[in-house]
Amino acid sequence: MRPTLSDSKRLIIKNLKKEFNGFWALKGLNLELGQGEIFVLLGPNGAGKTTTLKLITGLLHPTEGEIYIQGIDIKKEPIKAKSYIGYVPDEPFIYPKLTGREFINLVAGLYNVKKEDYEVRLQKLFKKFDVGEWIDELSEGYSHGMKQRVIMCQLLLHNPELILIDEPLVGLDPKTARTVRQTFLKLRQDGKTILISTHTLSFAREIATRLGIINHGELKFTGTLKELAEISGQKDIEEIYLKLTEQ
Ligand SMILES: Nc1ncnc2c1ncn2[C@@H]1O[C@H](COP(=O)(O)OP(=O)(O)OP(=O)(O)O)[C@@H](O)[C@H]1O
Ligand SMILES: [Mg+2]
Repeated sequence: MRPTLSDSKRLIIKNLKKEFNGFWALKGLNLELGQGEIFVLLGPNGAGKTTTLKLITGLLHPTEGEIYIQGIDIKKEPIKAKSYIGYVPDEPFIYPKLTGREFINLVAGLYNVKKEDYEVRLQKLFKKFDVGEWIDELSEGYSHGMKQRVIMCQLLLHNPELILIDEPLVGLDPKTARTVRQTFLKLRQDGKTILISTHTLSFAREIATRLGIINHGELKFTGTLKELAEISGQKDIEEIYLKLTEQ
């Protein structure tokens, strides 16, 4: 019997493997995330972070293994499973000939956001991320940070339960970066689950309820910062990271 929403984990990954032309980018990843977790995935370039996130969103198909979102098997019910996800890729794309507002509207349509919720939520998000009148200009003229703010708005508009973010802070100014941090902490309080891949260790230290260290396609360690400090014998997050990723 399929677990009900309340008793299911937000995300279950079992023995996930991904092969690209004979190269194993993921070699059997297992992970379970519950409600209200902020899990930060750390690891060197090429470790398999983006691949993991793309497999969860269904942008890539696993070579082996299973993924459940809210207890729903993404292979069996992909559209339903994906309706619970909000995703920001490592290189967010906004159609250049759309305005920010048009882009958000498009995404809201894909997620079937109800008309009565749309304007209220949008105004709240615009306020939170300091979105100005530029939202009605073509996105081709936006700065990196303006695009990132549009991306944050489209991410949250459909009220996702599981939020997946690949490198959230790159290119954000300090104020917007702080807003993003505060937003994640608030989302956590609201019971949302967040999976973040980042190289920004200070951000990981501040925000993570649990961390995972991935290297060569394997999740080598998972735990709280305190637990990883004990395993590595180091105190500072940079030292912990370097110790746990050394081969
Ligand atoms: N479409 C693809 N075809 C072939 N190889 C790929 C493909 N996507 C990823 N890889 C390989 O899989 C490995 C993991 O890549 P991935 O993008 O997941 O790393 P990452 O941990 O996100 O790295 P970074 O920190 O640089 O973003 C790399 O060796 C990469 O070259
Ligand atoms: Mg990556």
